[in-house]
Amino acid sequence: MGKFTVLNHPLIQHKLTLIRDKNVGTKEFREVANEIAELMVYEITRDLPLEDVEVETPMGKSTQKQLAGKKLAVVPILRAGLGMVDGVLELIPAAKVGHIGMYRDEKTLKPHEYFVKMPTDIDQRELLIVDPMLATGGSAIMAIDALKKRGAKAMKLIVLVAAPEGVKAVQEQHPDVEIYAAALDDHLTETGYIFPGLGDAGDRLFGTK
Ligand code: URA
Repeated sequence: MGKFTVLNHPLIQHKLTLIRDKNVGTKEFREVANEIAELMVYEITRDLPLEDVEVETPMGKSTQKQLAGKKLAVVPILRAGLGMVDGVLELIPAAKVGHIGMYRDEKTLKPHEYFVKMPTDIDQRELLIVDPMLATGGSAIMAIDALKKRGAKAMKLIVLVAAPEGVKAVQEQHPDVEIYAAALDDHLTETGYIFPGLGDAGDRLFGTK
């Protein structure tokens, strides 16, 4: 079973409550979604490996720490995942950004990839896949499939709100991918929305409806 973690830092919980409110407009929703993504990445990167490095300060030579290990890339699942990218890049400005677009076939309701553009070295990077809502898990599973097919080996999935159904589905299909959420909500509605959730994240981020 893959690891699932709810990052219940008080600031994360508070900010998520703010954007659950249906009266919050596009500008605030977008800003706060990115702030939550930033705080989540701060928590998730706590265990990044470090190595010693020699630094000569104005006072003389010393041994200090720098990041070691795999370089990172952010991978938003289009379109709503775009709403978390800037927050992640605030903390990891040198990260590459890969994009993966999925659409839902109206007859079968199954997700299909329509666009994938990744950094050429995804096999050597740790990928932070971002998507605000983990509902059925269908798009996340297909996105991870698509990334593995292209050589990705290390991935984390970061979502704002998860439904138990989606967490279980991703854990079953991709036990090697750790999932991080700001909240685990109650259930999926019959129409595939997370309850209480925050509505259609893409529409709320981009002001469409
Ligand atoms: N996608 C959304 O944007 N919201 C949900 O509640 C579920 C999937």
